[in-house]
Amino acid sequence: MNVYLDNAATTPMAPEVIEAMIPIMRDVFGNPSSSHSFGRQSKAYLETSRRKVAAFLNCKPAEIFFTSGGTEADNMALLTAVRELGVKTIITSPLEHHAVGHTAEALKMFPEVDVKYVTVDSKGHIDLEDLENLLKAGDSKKIVSLMHANNEIGTMIDLKQVSEICRRNEAYFHSDTVQTMGHFAFDLQDLDIDFITCAAHKFHGPKGIGFLYINQKIKATNLIHGGGQERGFRGGTENMYGIVGLAKAMELAYEDVEAHQQHVQGLKDYLIDELKEYFGEDVDFHGETDPSRSLYTVLNVCFPKTDKAGMLLFTLDLKGVAVSGGSACSSGATKGSHVLEGIGADMTRPNARFSFSRYTTKDEIDYAMEQVKEVFEKTLA
Ligand SMILES: Cc1ncc(COP(=O)(O)O)c(C=O)c1O
Repeated sequence: MNVYLDNAATTPMAPEVIEAMIPIMRDVFGNPSSSHSFGRQSKAYLETSRRKVAAFLNCKPAEIFFTSGGTEADNMALLTAVRELGVKTIITSPLEHHAVGHTAEALKMFPEVDVKYVTVDSKGHIDLEDLENLLKAGDSKKIVSLMHANNEIGTMIDLKQVSEICRRNEAYFHSDTVQTMGHFAFDLQDLDIDFITCAAHKFHGPKGIGFLYINQKIKATNLIHGGGQERGFRGGTENMYGIVGLAKAMELAYEDVEAHQQHVQGLKDYLIDELKEYFGEDVDFHGETDPSRSLYTVLNVCFPKTDKAGMLLFTLDLKGVAVSGGSACSSGATKGSHVLEGIGADMTRPNARFSFSRYTTKDEIDYAMEQVKEVFEKTLA
């Protein structure tokens, strides 16, 4: 049996998404910028997809800018803030995905731009008092960039609460919502935020496509110079089949989002119970596990100490169970996790991130659990 439990890294495409993309690849090949009928046909798909996405988020189609995925969208949000909005202080956390963390550090290349890090606790929660103090310090223009849910440990922020703090301190607010888009409902009329980001491959859409939402209050222009696509913000011929696939993936994700949530949360709770039953007090979980503040698709397990910790993921993989340790996007790499380090986790204990999708079954969890037991009883003993 092969069990894929690395859905926070990427998800398999939904069959309906593939079906929606095939006619675009095969038949709808016009360049949406062309004025002839082929171009107009593509343009119609492009704008219908944009309208669909905007309707799910309750925002305006003109606020959606398609990008090559989450990384580009995060880069663009912060770059826009610095280059176009006069932001000099980026306030973020040490637990952000590198798409934000490395971008923030790189933006120090602009004169007077500085990055401040908010304090986090051992479960990865943001210290909101510290955030408020950082916002009050000095009179530079500021942007807060805090991820909605952490991709490694699942800990979530309350977007509305952070938005209110930002607004009362007159700061811009960006949230990396790559792990929550398609998994939680968003109402952008209710949530006052400047930038959020999306990657379709995290909810059974294609890779290499995502978007940046930019609140219409912000006038952003010309980030990627070129042919004037995406209303001049991002030049380059649009990834048409990706965009159509993204819109279809979103439709499928939001059609039944509560049922997906319940199904996946049920599997996560079940795995937690199974692990506790087998390991007793010797098993822990990195990050928040309280469902009201934790991403239901992610469970980061801190296993009992063993001398052969380095063999855990490798042996599980040999037995057909795909999970990851450290960051999703660098799984397979030997570099330690900045997130686990950032929450002060005991790095001598082996850890594995199990991440689920709506396609994950209880049988798969049972199989994975059997393999975990065998690995601890045989290989790691
Ligand atoms: C929280 C978060 N932000 C950004 C990204 C980057 O997205 P992409 O791979 O689409 O560039 C990821 C991908 O793992 C992620 O988990």
